[in-house]
Amino acid sequence: MYFPGLEGVVVKETKICHIDLENSKIYYRGYDLEELAERSTFEETAYLLWHGNLPRRSELEEFRRSLAQHRIPPSHVKDLLLRAPRAAEPIDVLRTAVSAMAFGEDLRDKSPQVELARGLKITGAMPYIVAAFDRSRRGLGPAEPAEAGSHAEFFLWALRGERPSPREARALDVMLIIYAEHSMNNSAFTAVTVASTLADMYAAVTAAIASLKGPLHGGANVDASLMLEEVGDAKNVERWVEEQLAKGRRIPGFGHRLYKRGPDPRLRVLRRLARDLAAERGDYRWVELAERLEEYVTAKLSQKGIYPNTDLYAAVIFRYLGLPVDVNLPVFAMSRVAGWVAHVVEYRQANRLIRPTERYTGPVGLRYVPVEERG
Ligand SMILES: CC(C)(COP(=O)(O)OP(=O)(O)OC[C@H]1O[C@@H](n2cnc3c(N)ncnc32)[C@H](O)[C@@H]1OP(=O)(O)O)[C@@H](O)C(=O)NCCC(=O)NCCS
Repeated sequence: MYFPGLEGVVVKETKICHIDLENSKIYYRGYDLEELAERSTFEETAYLLWHGNLPRRSELEEFRRSLAQHRIPPSHVKDLLLRAPRAAEPIDVLRTAVSAMAFGEDLRDKSPQVELARGLKITGAMPYIVAAFDRSRRGLGPAEPAEAGSHAEFFLWALRGERPSPREARALDVMLIIYAEHSMNNSAFTAVTVASTLADMYAAVTAAIASLKGPLHGGANVDASLMLEEVGDAKNVERWVEEQLAKGRRIPGFGHRLYKRGPDPRLRVLRRLARDLAAERGDYRWVELAERLEEYVTAKLSQKGIYPNTDLYAAVIFRYLGLPVDVNLPVFAMSRVAGWVAHVVEYRQANRLIRPTERYTGPVGLRYVPVEERG
């Protein structure tokens, strides 16, 4: 059996995420993602993904406190990210910093509790890592807002050095919920593959960040943002799209391995959020541009199973939040880490080393010719 790209291959049983393509719904642990986006928080959603149930009030408070305790990473990680060259890509700094979080820790215990505690440490520290590096490359020292409440608020505050508005913090919070998990995507599979060797959580998350970077996966949210800038105005959409297609290029923010019969259900939430932020700012430029792209590309390519994906509107939302374009990608990682950790812990419950096979199509029996006789 040969399945290029492992399309359609079931690699594990799961209770974490269900994508109901028929009814255009996504469920985290049985809860409708749209309801979570409306009523939950990133912290509560991460707890849900990791533990399988919604926390009681005291459990949620404890979880929030523990996450917040890990906001400032260990000093060697801080040093590393503050010394990274300004030209480094923020996603690479994040990947390296997460890897370095393993230094000096006794990593022998792989029990679910200990791996979850590592997941908590990583998740807690990611916002600071991303924010402090961005400030450092702008010549600014790190901001360490002790009063910040939520994970999302802390990130925006640590990035800007000033408190975000409640609406901005909530918009990012919703993004973190929406991006937190999406079944056996490439980075979740990468995390699980690494974890299946019984390597530790730091190794699994580091590898997952590496996978996320590619433009066919998370990197598309950077490309989608660059596209918005390049197109510039809704009236340029038709010409720009036609030019790209004529050059055989793909349109960032469109297409998905799973959503070939209709758009991703998460778009409903993201479009609304993008509109709300546009209204708050009185600036509809980006959202209208994305809507026009959606309309034009869908009319043109939906017969091929191509619809907008989340990256199109995520790029709009991140623009309204004023994030530097290349910070979009580590923000995705700050959210998706919740899913990676959940998958690692779940897979280990019935761990089996992931080791697929391949079909050899090369020659055999070639005669070895010594180098001096090879001409
Ligand atoms: C996400 C993605 C990798 C899924 O790809 P896939 O399921 O492997 O789909 P395929 O590569 O088999 O593409 C099927 C056809 O649609 C075309 N296609 C896919 N995505 C396209 C896009 N964004 N723009 C234009 N054409 C696209 C392919 O060129 C191919 O055309 P062909 O049959 O004429 O050769 C792909 O849609 C893509 O590259 N999208 C752009 C990047 C992106 O937004 N990634 C984020 C994903 S969440």
